[in-house]
Amino acid sequence: MALLDLKNIGRSYKNGQIKVDALKNVDIAIEDGEFVSIMGPSGSGKSTLLNIVGCLDLPTDGTYKISDMHVENLKDSKLADIRNEFIGFVFQKFHLLPNLSARENVELPLIYQGMLGAERKKNSEKALEAVGLKDRMKHLPSQLSGGEQQRVAIARAIASNPSVILADEPTGALDSHTGENIMSIFQRLNKKLGITIVQVTHERDIALYGSKIFHLLDGEIEKVEKVEKNLANK
Ligand SMILES: Nc1ncnc2c1ncn2[C@@H]1O[C@H](COP(=O)(O)OP(=O)(O)OP(=O)(O)O)[C@@H](O)[C@H]1O
Ligand SMILES: [Mg+2]
Repeated sequence: MALLDLKNIGRSYKNGQIKVDALKNVDIAIEDGEFVSIMGPSGSGKSTLLNIVGCLDLPTDGTYKISDMHVENLKDSKLADIRNEFIGFVFQKFHLLPNLSARENVELPLIYQGMLGAERKKNSEKALEAVGLKDRMKHLPSQLSGGEQQRVAIARAIASNPSVILADEPTGALDSHTGENIMSIFQRLNKKLGITIVQVTHERDIALYGSKIFHLLDGEIEKVEKVEKNLANK
Protein backbone atom coordinates (compact mmCIF):
# COMPACT_ATOMS: atom_id res chain seq x y z
CA MET A 1 0.00 0.00 0.00
CA ALA A 2 1.41 3.36 -1.04
CA LEU A 3 1.62 6.09 1.59
CA LEU A 4 0.41 8.72 -0.89
CA ASP A 5 -1.88 7.29 -3.55
CA LEU A 6 -3.30 9.57 -6.24
CA LYS A 7 -5.52 8.03 -8.92
CA ASN A 8 -6.84 9.76 -11.99
CA ILE A 9 -6.42 13.17 -10.37
CA GLY A 10 -7.77 16.20 -12.21
CA ARG A 11 -7.84 19.83 -11.14
CA SER A 12 -9.63 22.37 -13.28
CA TYR A 13 -10.16 26.06 -12.68
CA LYS A 14 -13.03 28.06 -14.15
CA ASN A 15 -12.52 31.75 -14.80
CA GLY A 16 -15.76 32.92 -16.39
CA GLN A 17 -16.13 31.03 -19.67
CA ILE A 18 -12.55 29.81 -19.68
CA LYS A 19 -11.72 26.46 -18.12
CA VAL A 20 -8.12 25.57 -17.35
CA ASP A 21 -7.24 21.92 -16.80
CA ALA A 22 -4.22 22.35 -14.53
CA LEU A 23 -4.03 18.57 -13.94
CA LYS A 24 -5.41 15.69 -15.98
CA ASN A 25 -5.46 11.93 -15.25
CA VAL A 26 -2.55 12.05 -12.87
CA ASP A 27 -1.67 8.69 -11.27
CA ILE A 28 1.07 8.79 -8.69
CA ALA A 29 1.86 6.34 -5.90
CA ILE A 30 4.57 7.26 -3.42
CA GLU A 31 5.76 4.68 -0.91
CA ASP A 32 6.57 5.38 2.72
CA GLY A 33 10.24 6.44 2.89
CA GLU A 34 10.62 7.40 -0.78
CA PHE A 35 12.33 10.61 -1.95
CA VAL A 36 10.90 11.74 -5.30
CA SER A 37 11.09 14.79 -7.52
CA ILE A 38 8.58 16.49 -9.81
CA MET A 39 9.84 18.43 -12.83
CA GLY A 40 8.19 20.18 -15.76
CA PRO A 41 7.92 23.53 -17.55
CA SER A 42 6.35 26.58 -15.92
CA GLY A 43 2.56 26.18 -15.86
CA SER A 44 2.67 22.39 -16.21
CA GLY A 45 0.85 21.90 -12.88
CA LYS A 46 3.68 21.14 -10.44
CA SER A 47 2.54 23.45 -7.63
CA THR A 48 -1.09 22.49 -8.20
CA LEU A 49 -0.11 18.84 -7.76
CA LEU A 50 2.01 19.49 -4.67
CA ASN A 51 -0.82 21.52 -3.08
CA ILE A 52 -3.19 18.59 -3.58
CA VAL A 53 -0.64 16.13 -2.18
CA GLY A 54 -0.29 18.47 0.83
CA CYS A 55 -4.07 18.80 1.37
CA LEU A 56 -3.86 22.55 0.74
CA ASP A 57 -6.20 22.06 -2.22
CA LEU A 58 -8.66 19.39 -3.35
CA PRO A 59 -8.81 17.71 -6.75
CA THR A 60 -11.88 18.21 -8.94
CA ASP A 61 -11.54 14.61 -10.21
CA GLY A 62 -10.09 11.36 -8.99
CA THR A 63 -9.21 9.86 -5.63
CA TYR A 64 -6.43 10.58 -3.18
CA LYS A 65 -5.58 8.35 -0.25
CA ILE A 66 -3.03 8.98 2.50
CA SER A 67 -2.22 5.76 4.37
CA ASP A 68 -5.37 4.21 2.90
CA MET A 69 -7.58 7.08 4.15
CA HIS A 70 -9.59 8.91 1.50
CA VAL A 71 -8.97 12.65 1.65
CA GLU A 72 -10.52 13.92 -1.60
CA ASN A 73 -13.87 14.71 0.00
CA LEU A 74 -12.79 15.97 3.41
CA LYS A 75 -13.77 19.31 4.91
CA ASP A 76 -11.23 22.08 5.49
CA SER A 77 -10.93 21.46 9.22
CA LYS A 78 -10.16 17.77 8.70
CA LEU A 79 -7.64 18.63 5.96
CA ALA A 80 -5.94 20.99 8.41
CA ASP A 81 -5.71 18.16 10.96
CA ILE A 82 -4.07 15.91 8.38
CA ARG A 83 -1.60 18.63 7.43
CA ASN A 84 -0.69 19.18 11.08
CA GLU A 85 -0.25 15.52 11.76
CA PHE A 86 1.50 14.24 8.64
CA ILE A 87 3.01 17.00 6.57
CA GLY A 88 5.78 19.59 6.74
CA PHE A 89 6.06 22.25 4.01
CA VAL A 90 9.14 23.96 2.60
CA PHE A 91 8.80 26.76 0.05
CA GLN A 92 11.12 28.61 -2.31
CA LYS A 93 10.82 31.86 -0.38
CA PHE A 94 11.27 30.44 3.14
CA HIS A 95 8.21 32.33 4.56
CA LEU A 96 9.85 33.15 7.89
CA LEU A 97 8.40 35.88 10.10
CA PRO A 98 10.95 38.73 10.17
CA ASN A 99 10.43 39.79 13.79
CA LEU A 100 10.81 36.30 15.27
CA SER A 101 14.11 34.56 16.00
CA ALA A 102 15.01 31.29 14.30
CA ARG A 103 13.77 29.36 17.33
CA GLU A 104 10.54 31.32 17.59
CA ASN A 105 9.85 30.72 13.88
CA VAL A 106 10.29 26.98 14.40
CA GLU A 107 8.10 27.07 17.52
CA LEU A 108 5.20 28.92 15.92
CA PRO A 109 3.38 25.95 14.30
CA LEU A 110 3.91 23.96 17.52
CA ILE A 111 2.02 26.68 19.41
CA TYR A 112 -0.89 26.30 16.97
CA GLN A 113 -0.77 22.55 17.54
CA GLY A 114 -1.19 23.11 21.27
CA MET A 115 2.23 21.82 22.33
CA LEU A 116 3.30 23.07 25.75
CA GLY A 117 6.22 25.43 26.33
CA ALA A 118 8.93 23.08 27.60
CA GLU A 119 8.28 20.44 24.94
CA ARG A 120 8.08 23.14 22.27
CA LYS A 121 11.47 24.50 23.24
CA LYS A 122 13.01 21.02 23.25
CA ASN A 123 11.52 20.06 19.87
CA SER A 124 12.46 23.31 18.17
CA GLU A 125 16.03 23.18 19.49
CA LYS A 126 16.34 19.58 18.34
CA ALA A 127 15.03 20.50 14.88
CA LEU A 128 17.45 23.43 14.55
CA GLU A 129 20.29 21.21 15.67
CA ALA A 130 19.32 18.65 13.02
CA VAL A 131 19.85 21.28 10.29
CA GLY A 132 23.14 22.50 11.82
CA LEU A 133 21.85 25.76 13.30
CA LYS A 134 22.32 25.13 17.00
CA ASP A 135 24.40 28.32 17.30
CA ARG A 136 21.98 30.50 15.32
CA MET A 137 18.79 29.99 17.33
CA LYS A 138 18.52 33.58 18.50
CA HIS A 139 19.23 35.16 15.12
CA LEU A 140 16.51 36.99 13.22
CA PRO A 141 15.95 35.95 9.58
CA SER A 142 17.66 39.18 8.43
CA GLN A 143 20.78 38.06 10.32
CA LEU A 144 20.92 34.74 8.45
CA SER A 145 22.10 33.81 4.95
CA GLY A 146 19.59 32.50 2.40
CA GLY A 147 20.73 28.93 2.95
CA GLU A 148 20.46 29.34 6.73
CA GLN A 149 16.96 30.78 6.38
CA GLN A 150 15.94 27.77 4.32
CA ARG A 151 17.42 25.51 7.00
CA VAL A 152 15.25 27.30 9.60
CA ALA A 153 12.25 26.64 7.34
CA ILE A 154 13.23 22.95 7.18
CA ALA A 155 13.59 22.86 10.98
CA ARG A 156 10.10 24.37 11.21
CA ALA A 157 8.81 21.65 8.86
CA ILE A 158 10.36 18.76 10.85
CA ALA A 159 9.73 20.03 14.40
CA SER A 160 6.35 18.31 14.60
CA ASN A 161 7.79 14.98 13.36
CA PRO A 162 5.91 14.79 10.05
CA SER A 163 5.82 11.62 7.94
CA VAL A 164 6.15 13.66 4.75
CA ILE A 165 8.02 16.78 3.64
CA LEU A 166 6.67 18.60 0.60
CA ALA A 167 9.00 21.15 -0.93
CA ASP A 168 8.11 23.54 -3.78
CA GLU A 169 11.40 24.62 -5.39
CA PRO A 170 13.32 24.49 -2.09
CA THR A 171 16.57 25.53 -3.77
CA GLY A 172 15.07 27.97 -6.28
CA ALA A 173 16.30 31.04 -4.40
CA LEU A 174 19.75 29.64 -3.55
CA ASP A 175 23.09 29.34 -5.34
CA SER A 176 24.04 25.85 -6.47
CA HIS A 177 26.46 25.13 -3.62
CA THR A 178 23.87 26.11 -0.97
CA GLY A 179 21.26 24.12 -2.90
CA GLU A 180 23.43 20.99 -2.64
CA ASN A 181 23.73 21.62 1.10
CA ILE A 182 19.93 21.70 1.43
CA MET A 183 19.75 18.46 -0.58
CA SER A 184 22.19 16.70 1.75
CA ILE A 185 19.95 17.72 4.67
CA PHE A 186 16.92 16.28 2.81
CA GLN A 187 18.89 13.11 2.12
CA ARG A 188 19.76 12.74 5.78
CA LEU A 189 16.15 13.33 6.91
CA ASN A 190 15.02 10.76 4.34
CA LYS A 191 17.62 8.08 5.17
CA LYS A 192 18.02 8.54 8.93
CA LEU A 193 14.49 9.52 9.97
CA GLY A 194 12.63 7.79 7.14
CA ILE A 195 10.75 10.96 6.21
CA THR A 196 9.09 10.70 2.79
CA ILE A 197 10.09 13.63 0.58
CA VAL A 198 8.33 15.04 -2.47
CA GLN A 199 10.04 18.01 -4.07
CA VAL A 200 9.31 20.19 -7.08
CA THR A 201 12.34 21.57 -8.89
CA HIS A 202 13.43 23.14 -12.17
CA GLU A 203 17.00 21.93 -11.73
CA ARG A 204 17.95 18.48 -12.92
CA ASP A 205 20.93 18.25 -10.54
CA ILE A 206 18.53 18.78 -7.65
CA ALA A 207 15.90 16.39 -9.04
CA LEU A 208 18.54 13.64 -9.19
CA TYR A 209 18.61 13.47 -5.40
CA GLY A 210 15.26 11.67 -5.64
CA SER A 211 15.00 8.02 -6.67
CA LYS A 212 12.34 8.88 -9.26
CA ILE A 213 11.44 11.93 -11.30
CA PHE A 214 7.82 12.52 -12.33
CA HIS A 215 7.89 14.68 -15.47
CA LEU A 216 4.76 16.80 -15.89
CA LEU A 217 3.70 18.33 -19.19
CA ASP A 218 0.47 20.31 -19.69
CA GLY A 219 -1.00 18.89 -16.50
CA GLU A 220 -0.25 15.25 -17.33
CA ILE A 221 2.47 12.83 -16.29
CA GLU A 222 4.59 12.61 -19.41
CA LYS A 223 7.13 10.15 -18.03
CA VAL A 224 8.34 8.59 -14.79
CA GLU A 225 12.13 8.44 -14.75
CA LYS A 226 14.02 6.10 -12.45
CA VAL A 227 17.25 7.65 -11.19
CA GLU A 228 20.33 5.45 -11.42
CA LYS A 229 22.09 6.28 -8.17
CA ASN A 230 25.46 4.90 -9.19
CA LEU A 231 25.56 7.20 -12.25
CA ALA A 232 24.32 10.30 -10.47
CA ASN A 233 26.47 9.51 -7.44
CA LYS A 234 23.97 11.23 -5.21
N1 LIG B 1 -6.16 29.77 -8.90
C1 LIG B 1 -6.03 29.55 -10.21
N2 LIG B 1 -7.00 29.94 -11.07
C2 LIG B 1 -6.90 29.69 -12.39
N3 LIG B 1 -5.87 29.03 -12.95
C3 LIG B 1 -4.86 28.63 -12.17
C4 LIG B 1 -4.89 28.86 -10.74
N4 LIG B 1 -3.75 28.34 -10.21
C5 LIG B 1 -3.05 27.81 -11.23
N5 LIG B 1 -3.72 27.98 -12.41
C6 LIG B 1 -3.26 27.52 -13.74
O1 LIG B 1 -2.92 26.15 -13.66
C7 LIG B 1 -1.76 25.85 -14.41
C8 LIG B 1 -0.72 25.17 -13.53
O2 LIG B 1 -0.21 26.09 -12.56
P1 LIG B 1 0.91 25.70 -11.51
O3 LIG B 1 1.07 26.84 -10.59
O4 LIG B 1 0.59 24.39 -10.92
O5 LIG B 1 2.20 25.55 -12.46
P2 LIG B 1 3.70 25.22 -12.09
O6 LIG B 1 4.08 23.99 -12.87
O7 LIG B 1 3.88 25.16 -10.61
O8 LIG B 1 4.49 26.46 -12.71
P3 LIG B 1 5.80 27.25 -12.16
O9 LIG B 1 6.99 26.40 -12.57
O10 LIG B 1 5.76 28.52 -12.95
O11 LIG B 1 5.69 27.45 -10.69
C9 LIG B 1 -1.31 27.17 -15.00
O12 LIG B 1 -1.75 27.24 -16.34
C10 LIG B 1 -1.99 28.21 -14.15
O13 LIG B 1 -2.25 29.38 -14.89
MG1 LIG C 1 4.93 26.36 -9.21
